[in-house]
Amino acid sequence: EKQGFKHFMLKEIYEQPGVVRTCLENYLDEQWSPDSAAGPIKLGLDPSLFQDLERIQIVACGTSWHASLVGQYLLEQLAGVPTVVQYASEFRYAPTPLTPNTLTVGVTQSGETADTLAALEMEKQRRSELSDEFRPRLLGITNRPESSLSRLVPQIIDTHAGIEIGVAATKTFAAQLMAFYLLALDLTYQRQSQSPERLAAIIGELRTLPALLELVLESQERYVETLAHDFVETQDFIYIGRGINFPIALEGALKLKEISYIHAEGYPAGEMKHGPIALLDAKVPVVAIAMPGSVFEKVLSNAQEAKARDARLIGVTPMNEQEARETFDTLLPVPAVDEILSPLVTMVPLQLLAYHISAIRGLDVDQPRNLAKSVTVE
Ligand code: F6R
Repeated sequence: EKQGFKHFMLKEIYEQPGVVRTCLENYLDEQWSPDSAAGPIKLGLDPSLFQDLERIQIVACGTSWHASLVGQYLLEQLAGVPTVVQYASEFRYAPTPLTPNTLTVGVTQSGETADTLAALEMEKQRRSELSDEFRPRLLGITNRPESSLSRLVPQIIDTHAGIEIGVAATKTFAAQLMAFYLLALDLTYQRQSQSPERLAAIIGELRTLPALLELVLESQERYVETLAHDFVETQDFIYIGRGINFPIALEGALKLKEISYIHAEGYPAGEMKHGPIALLDAKVPVVAIAMPGSVFEKVLSNAQEAKARDARLIGVTPMNEQEARETFDTLLPVPAVDEILSPLVTMVPLQLLAYHISAIRGLDVDQPRNLAKSVTVE
């Protein structure tokens, strides 16, 4: 039941700190330190999946595809494994040429999405008669280990988010992100692709995430609700981000589209000037995700370009960043965390914004028109 929340979606947004905590409890060794004899992450997967690993390809749809893009960033930038992400519906009809020692990861919270299952089935088939280095190595990331996915793919990371009722994915997205953090950190340890100190620092900060997410929810909810009133009549939104937060811009835009029926587009901030900037005027708000780190200044300068076109600028950024405070008209403040972990905090205000705009518009938040919770047809 909704436990006092007006909609399941809001309840599920609030469940995210718990979802992150559960993933850490299940898969992270509490006692681990860089001096430990074994690694920090216990996913319980068959080690042969990762033997001589040269490449990872990920197939998914929708929000799971966005989580996979964050996953790609982590697998490449932390673990150093070349990774590609494909829409399952594209991959199944135009598969990438076969490469050796390749892990194929299927990401589907429901475990029932037809295109994702078909892409995995195809990969299994086309590799089944080949030599050992081309053998199929399949891994599933799902919230439903009893689903069709696990009949097809025996090796699974169960995200333990609990059943999600709102059609728009929120807590299962958080859980998928966690699965990718854990997988990437495990591979980082195995491949020694980062120093033990860096690995320990990321893990240490990851442990603080549940409490930080609670803080974001407590401090933001009322505020975002008030802000949402400003956008009841808005017809178009642009979301921009770079690096690891580019997929969060896509996800923020998708949440808004799905439940409020407002046209929204997510872009890598550096791409704005190559076309979409032509859309901007005072009627098109721009939400920019600007987190301290490798692309902070770049995002701020991209945001300023939008401001010069009279767009209302909303910044998802830490409160203590003066330059950001001066750039944005409106802030959606989030805690300052290591850039690599920032998607876990930046996703929350964007979910809340989409939720409140939809609720204020009086729409059916949990069951938006034309959408189903699992897409079991092609
Ligand atoms: C977005 C949403 C959809 C799903 C997509 C894949 O809020 O819910 O885009 O993410 O249909 O679903 P799964 O993860 O079940 O394969």
